[in-house]
Amino acid sequence: MKKVVLAYSGGLDTSCIIPWLKERGYETIAVVGDVGQGDDFEAIKKKALKSGASKVYCLNLQKELIENYALPALKAGALYESKYNLACALSRPLIAEKQVEVARKEKAQGLVHGCTGKGNDQVRFEVTYRLMEPKMEVIAPVRVWEFKTRDEEIDYAKAQGIPVPVTKKSPYSIDTNVYGRAIECGVLEDPWKEPPEDIYKLTTDPKKAPNTPAYVEIEFTQGVPKKIDGTAYQPLELVKRLNEIGGKHGVGRTDMIENRLVGIKSREIYENPAGAILHLAIRDLESLVLDRESLRFKEALSLKYAELTYNGLWWTPLKAQLDAYFEKYHETTTGTVRVKLYKGKATVVGRKSKFSRYSEKMATYGEGDVFDQSLADGFIKLWTVPYQK
Ligand code: ARG
Repeated sequence: MKKVVLAYSGGLDTSCIIPWLKERGYETIAVVGDVGQGDDFEAIKKKALKSGASKVYCLNLQKELIENYALPALKAGALYESKYNLACALSRPLIAEKQVEVARKEKAQGLVHGCTGKGNDQVRFEVTYRLMEPKMEVIAPVRVWEFKTRDEEIDYAKAQGIPVPVTKKSPYSIDTNVYGRAIECGVLEDPWKEPPEDIYKLTTDPKKAPNTPAYVEIEFTQGVPKKIDGTAYQPLELVKRLNEIGGKHGVGRTDMIENRLVGIKSREIYENPAGAILHLAIRDLESLVLDRESLRFKEALSLKYAELTYNGLWWTPLKAQLDAYFEKYHETTTGTVRVKLYKGKATVVGRKSKFSRYSEKMATYGEGDVFDQSLADGFIKLWTVPYQK
């Protein structure tokens, strides 16, 4: 039997994949990535074995997801189509990377995932596989197998002795990790319909959120969030803390129509309190410490970084070059941002930095103005020269 390594979630698809592969002569080793989806991993391990996996690896990847993926994307200001913090997109190259490491260690010949042919995730997994191990066989059973409906799949699972949950399946497709949660399908497929309140798990309904605002002071050092209200946190703990407090105030909901790489437009709802607060705060601090040209030039690179990440091109030269650029860009992004959280909205209400370029003496309309207004006349004359006939 050929040995393959499967990215296993414990769901119906990846469970059916195991016997399906066995029928085709493959032995499956399952890799479960704990990215903070909050599942019962002992139960998932058991299910993998029950489904016929020869071995299961359960890897805690939360710290790596935040430190090596979410923080670089935050520094890059990467929001796909200006909105999505890329939580799911960032987790895929990480899980795929770990899968390849297991495959090497186990001397496996193939890599398997349970993504559909209509989504972005298949691309993110497979680009990573192909860049790390170009010669390994790649199998995507869900794209090619014979099951046309979920019921057919359930019948197959039952026949294989795979436990099928008796509770009715949620109408939604949900992807969760510690950096955010994505919800699609069901009633959400109608872009005109307002999302029902019951889809949300991390964020309070803004109208039921506390009547008094919360204030958080986030301290950054060279573009990395280090402290909340003066207390130092490791990045993962910091993200969890902001998820908690932001979620309590209903902050971080996004409803968007996004363009998938395969060309389909899809309606996706996101909840990402920490990501929303951090992107808002770092952007604001940048506006205090960086000059106009740097700020404007960076915008295009943020967009590019988000596209590369979304489109599965994390492990590519341009993405690495952009990381180097953003290291330089953030040399002075050190300081504190005060954010107000209130009824679903995060607002920056104060910022300070030892690298501040803000000059009150220049800006003021009050006492102590040092801006020489008489120079404006000559400035505007020269400014107009290129356009005069
Ligand atoms: N659209 C997002 C992406 O491509 C999330 C994908 C998974 N979404 C879901 N609801 N299962 O990154």
